[in-house]
Amino acid sequence: MTVQTTPVRMVLDCDTGVDDTLAILYAALHPAVDLLGVGSVWGNVDVDTATGNSLHTVHLAGRPDIPVARGAAGPLTGAPPVFAYHVHGRDGQGNAGTGRAVGRPAGETAAEQIIRLVRAHPGEVEVVAVGPLTNLALALGLCPQLPGMVRGVTIMGGAALAPGNVTEVAEANIWCDPEAAAAVFRAPWPLTMVGLDVTMRTTLDDGHRARLAAGGSIGGYVSDILDHYLGYFASVAFGERRSCMHDVLAVAVAAGTLVPTLAPTVRAFVETGDGPTRGQTVCDLRGMYMGFPPQDGASCRVVLQTDPAFADEVVALIAGAGDSAVPLDREEHA
Ligand code: BDR
Ligand code: CA
Repeated sequence: MTVQTTPVRMVLDCDTGVDDTLAILYAALHPAVDLLGVGSVWGNVDVDTATGNSLHTVHLAGRPDIPVARGAAGPLTGAPPVFAYHVHGRDGQGNAGTGRAVGRPAGETAAEQIIRLVRAHPGEVEVVAVGPLTNLALALGLCPQLPGMVRGVTIMGGAALAPGNVTEVAEANIWCDPEAAAAVFRAPWPLTMVGLDVTMRTTLDDGHRARLAAGGSIGGYVSDILDHYLGYFASVAFGERRSCMHDVLAVAVAAGTLVPTLAPTVRAFVETGDGPTRGQTVCDLRGMYMGFPPQDGASCRVVLQTDPAFADEVVALIAGAGDSAVPLDREEHA
């Protein structure tokens, strides 16, 4: 595979649970990415837990220089947030985190950080969002010129042909804040959607965990936090101990280290009505029997196929990352 020589400047927005942690590690460790900043958002866990996990992860990777900015605590509409502790553990680290607070959040919001970093590098920054899209919608509200200033936006979210994972048709990141997602899909920026069509098909099993554990202490930590996650997916999705990788795929597609084998650019929108399709990503794939000819008004590159062997690359990168820069024993709390 050809990896471009100039690293892609990236801002990564996460609701830092288990798969988000792998995404941050990949972005912080991979030479194809210049990770300028991480934003946190509510979603898998509350925003304070997500912020603490993001800080812990950049320190774990030996990259305390990467700023972490706290973002939105709930959806745009002010509706109460719903979290997924049952998926990611009460600590968002599969109940295997250290409980240790490391570093401090930046003195700006995640939306402000996105705008500042994009303005500092016009046309060069890829904004990658792998949680609910609240921070990105807030950034659009604060800076309507943002779409003309980014390199692109890549999200982990949505489902074009695959079933949903919260409702029959809605994927979690979109379902959490459909109004924010609709604003992101409407904005005139190059948008890439890396959804359940591919993220459910790239999976990790206990063999991958063993390879991680055989690496340095960073790999050991990731192996530990994946234990609960594999168990969750065994019961709800796969019928065996295996988990999807979700968020890291969006980072890799944005970085060019995972090149989709099928990704048409089509019209796409988010359903915001209150009926059973709320949060659905509706993608116009009617051209699929003709090899997806160009479509008027097409605005969203929808990733439909990637190589599942990508999981091995992620495992090799993290297993080879050596030992953690922060202590990984569990902090005891009174
Ligand atoms: C997405 O929702 C979150 O639980 C995961 O971190 C991922 O971003 C999958 O639907
Ligand atoms: Ca996520």
